[in-house]
Amino acid sequence: MFSKILCAVDGSQHALEAARVAGQLAKQLGAKLTFLTVTKELKVTQEVKRYMEIEHLTGEPQYVLDEYTERVMQEAKDAARAAGVTDAKTEVKTGQPARVIITTADAGGYDAIVIGGRGHGDLEGLLLGSVSHKVASLAKCTVITVR
Ligand SMILES: Nc1ncnc2c1ncn2[C@@H]1O[C@H](COP(=O)(O)OP(=O)(O)OP(=O)(O)O)[C@@H](O)[C@H]1O
Ligand SMILES: [Mg+2]
Repeated sequence: MFSKILCAVDGSQHALEAARVAGQLAKQLGAKLTFLTVTKELKVTQEVKRYMEIEHLTGEPQYVLDEYTERVMQEAKDAARAAGVTDAKTEVKTGQPARVIITTADAGGYDAIVIGGRGHGDLEGLLLGSVSHKVASLAKCTVITVR
């Protein structure tokens, strides 16, 4: 049914659930699985510097961000591994999340995108975040929205 699955993750619980579903799907179908996370271009403003000072955060801001991304990817791979998929790939890209997810799926010949219904957003009661809404509306391939 699907041979190449792209799962978008942002480090949220919803995305982790999506990673579990993607892992199980890939296992059952014998499909290739890639996890994609889209990071923001880092703008280190005075405000960020001040915040880091107050919180006693040492190191380069980029390093802190990279560590977070690394953790998000590891978490997703662990979810896939738990489903029996040991060769999941990871991709980290920068830009607008929905656009990057859609173009990556298109360019990479993916036939399914697995995405969480919500992410880190905190609008109570909302069933679909803006990224999952855009991806479900605009992607050419099948989109599985995990709730
Ligand atoms: N930066 C990102 N990189 C990869 N996937 C993402 C990213 N942001 C969101 N997603 C995917 O989209 C799903 C839904 O997240 P979304 O951002 O749409 O919801 P939200 O954060 O609750 O709402 P909003 O961002 O609109 O306030 C996530 O579970 C994840 O699968
Ligand atoms: Mg979001």
